[in-house]
Amino acid sequence: MKQNLKLPDVPGPIGVFDSGYGGLTILEKIRTELPEYDYIYLGDNARTPYGTRSFDVVYKYTLECVTQLFEMGCQLVVLACNTASAKALRSIQQRDLPLLDPRRRVLGVIRPTVEAVGAMTTSKHIGLLATVGTVQSNSYPLEIQKLHEGIVVTSEACPMWVPLIENNEYQTEGADYFVRKNVEHLLAADPLIDVVMLGCTHYPLLENKIKTLLPDGVRVLSQGDIVSRSLVDYLQRHPEMDDLCTKNASIRYFSTESVEKFSSSASIFLKEEIKAEHLDIN
Ligand code: DGL
Repeated sequence: MKQNLKLPDVPGPIGVFDSGYGGLTILEKIRTELPEYDYIYLGDNARTPYGTRSFDVVYKYTLECVTQLFEMGCQLVVLACNTASAKALRSIQQRDLPLLDPRRRVLGVIRPTVEAVGAMTTSKHIGLLATVGTVQSNSYPLEIQKLHEGIVVTSEACPMWVPLIENNEYQTEGADYFVRKNVEHLLAADPLIDVVMLGCTHYPLLENKIKTLLPDGVRVLSQGDIVSRSLVDYLQRHPEMDDLCTKNASIRYFSTESVEKFSSSASIFLKEEIKAEHLDIN
């Protein structure tokens, strides 16, 4: 962790972080629910994917990015990344926030997703599609056991999906092959699954493709709406944090990679033109 940090002690934008472009699927929904707030999006595209990296590396990278967002004035940061939420969130909340600034908050995407899924399943058999890191962390089954005893979770790691999306190759026959392979493998492992959770913020771009492979009656849970509603609820329950979030309806996009690449690829996710700025993580 950086020493002698001087963090601005004034209200600021909400920070939204992902290893790459995936968090844009969450940001879009958050901005629809909360259009009046200011936002900074940070994609660590230079070091994506996180999904195949070790616990220590994901924690280090995530903490560096969160610290940058704090230095840029964010009092509240949403980890719009399941891998970072699984491998770094708890350590940041328990170990780093008390030292950096106990008033600031970092929220993840796993808990709100788990809260929502209990009401969606009738068979009590759920499927999880996620990165290798999220699956290996076991975070989803553990959280589900805490909140919804008796629900069975079967997980399928999809290591090819994020690279295909990050490289804009997700509408190709190659992508079809990998999506089919992972979805069929998941369903074969537990034929009683009636809800499939997309446990990676990149995956909404594959949602239509995934749906065509599912039998009737199997529903897909995508995180954008859930996370945005949970943020609305959080800000209502924490007016002291709401007061620390500025509201001029502005948005700035930062990437640790080339801004040209980020701007053109982000437009695929957001279906609008954006202008990104470069950020060096130091
Ligand atoms: N979007 C991230 C998630 O939700 C994963 C991307 C990656 O592997 O870097 O897990």
